[in-house]
Amino acid sequence: MTSHPFGQERPLHPETKTILVGASSGIGAALLQELVRRGHRVAALARRGDLLEENCRQANAAAGMQRAVAYEHDVTDFGTVPALFEQITADLGGLDLIIYVAGVQPPVAAHEYDFAKDHEMVQVNLLGAMAWLNEAASRFTHVRHGQIAALGSVSGDRGRVAFPGYHTSKGALAIYLESLRNRLSRRGVTVTTVKPGFVDTRLLANAAKTFWVISPEEAARQIADAIEARKQVVYVPGRWRWVSLIIQLIPSFIFRRLSI
Ligand SMILES: NC(=O)c1ccc[n+]([C@@H]2O[C@H](COP(=O)([O-])OP(=O)(O)OC[C@H]3O[C@@H](n4cnc5c(N)ncnc54)[C@H](OP(=O)(O)O)[C@@H]3O)[C@@H](O)[C@H]2O)c1
Repeated sequence: MTSHPFGQERPLHPETKTILVGASSGIGAALLQELVRRGHRVAALARRGDLLEENCRQANAAAGMQRAVAYEHDVTDFGTVPALFEQITADLGGLDLIIYVAGVQPPVAAHEYDFAKDHEMVQVNLLGAMAWLNEAASRFTHVRHGQIAALGSVSGDRGRVAFPGYHTSKGALAIYLESLRNRLSRRGVTVTTVKPGFVDTRLLANAAKTFWVISPEEAARQIADAIEARKQVVYVPGRWRWVSLIIQLIPSFIFRRLSI
């Protein structure tokens, strides 16, 4: 729950009011610093409250004011989301932007079919996103204002051999976001799907081979730029768009013979 409230907003310096789900480590932690630097007030959510508190302390110290507040939360506690969403939007004094970053990717062996792991991935990567973003969509559709962003993955663009549950969760998330976009764009709301390649976080420990790895800070800069530019779908870095296009064009009878 809230450790300390946001300060009074200064009328001549309006701040973008942002919910960031998954801000304790990796890309989300870097995004928290980036957004606060860019003048957002940010409600930062994740389970590891000590890390969240420290991330908020650092962001506020750099900004010289109270712009980030930690809210300890497990996204799989779906029933608590509506009340927490209401509390946070009241604490923020409104809502302009929600970014869903939370995700898990446990190690999965080549011939492993573990429902517990798939269950966790679908709960965190997909259902948690739906629980939070439905709340935002419902609010934004009424006020005809706002922006929704979420982190999918390049690896959600095709059913690959490595992580069936992960690819499924990210692929389904992309479809859900497209549906939100098609509903909400006519209400003046932007929905941004972010598809990173490899980013140097704890998630990479489970990847078989990696290349073109970028830092979480670089990923955060590119994601913040894409959100400000109100992009619909963005690959991070952009060259992954062309890799993904080629992968999507490979015919199925060839694709199933490849180990990608
Ligand atoms: N790293 C990459 O190469 C890469 C590539 C493509 C996409 N992505 C996506 O980028 C996102 C961020 O991942 P990352 O690489 O930065 O890894 P990370 O450091 O492990 O970050 C994952 C974040 O999700 C949060 N989270 C996980 N389970 C949660 C739960 N049940 N409730 C609340 N928060 C939860 C974690 O916080 P707590 O553990 O404190 O709860 C953490 O803040 C993920 O969606 C991931 O799929 C990453």
